[in-house]
Amino acid sequence: MARCVALTFDDGPSPVTPRLLDTLAAAHVRATFFVVGRQVRARPEVVRRALAEGHVLGNHTGSHARLTALDADQIRQEITAGAEAVHRATGVRPTLLRPPFGAFSATVRQAGHPLVLWDTDTLDWQSKDAAETVRRALDRVGPGSVVLMHDTEPSTADALPELIGRLRGAGYTLVTVPQLFGLSAASVPSVPLSPSTHFTNGADYRRRPATGVPTPHPNTVTWRHRPDGCSARFPDGCPDAEVLVPSPVPGVCYPTDRPGFALRNETVGEVELYRDTGCTVRAATLHPGDEQYGDLRGFLLRPAPAG
Ligand code: NI
Repeated sequence: MARCVALTFDDGPSPVTPRLLDTLAAAHVRATFFVVGRQVRARPEVVRRALAEGHVLGNHTGSHARLTALDADQIRQEITAGAEAVHRATGVRPTLLRPPFGAFSATVRQAGHPLVLWDTDTLDWQSKDAAETVRRALDRVGPGSVVLMHDTEPSTADALPELIGRLRGAGYTLVTVPQLFGLSAASVPSVPLSPSTHFTNGADYRRRPATGVPTPHPNTVTWRHRPDGCSARFPDGCPDAEVLVPSPVPGVCYPTDRPGFALRNETVGEVELYRDTGCTVRAATLHPGDEQYGDLRGFLLRPAPAG
């Protein structure tokens, strides 16, 4: 299989997006943009340009809502609002969905869209540093990777020329998400805008497997609360198929130091994912069955406070 990588950009269109499009056009690279409906309404001409230049538009919801905090009707409204904004701007309706914050659940799956996640997180929004963005991307990327970046960060636009050059220097062909999962690198010029024939609605996609048909990614770490800490079940084939994470504080779990894994709340209660940064705590509540994807290093887990 060709060494293909898909570059993806979230949260735009923003004032930064045209500069990214200039770089992509100059390098003849097609990428995938997961756009937010309210951003599309503010800058419809930018998404029209992206589409005209061969990029793929995906749905990042209407208002960048955390879908696991919503009920089924609200989830559908958010997804529809994102899709409608793109449709009004361009005449096409995106089918691929990237759930904001990488947060999804069975209800989100049932909304009936392929969920496109990633396996290479540049954390560009966090570092806001071009060299660091390039370094993180190159550290983690491999054949079949989906690289997560944000077209809201000027540093990402600064990083893109070098990143493209370095990836190509390493032998990678840069493709769109539908091309990565559905087509060979030989058919790069043809960009299907309704990729449903290549994707399964409700399944999640993070990286193209080396062989065979794309399947939902198995790299989900399952955390379970135990009296003596938390156990984490890693995908089959990993040497540490199950590890016990000691819990210095009763009921508090310290998730993985392995990058790029997800967790699923398999407990019967709500679990709070949080991060103590010294001055702020960023929290997400995972209901039973909710999944959270992303680089979870540094985050903590605990049963959600009652009430
Ligand atoms: Ni986002």
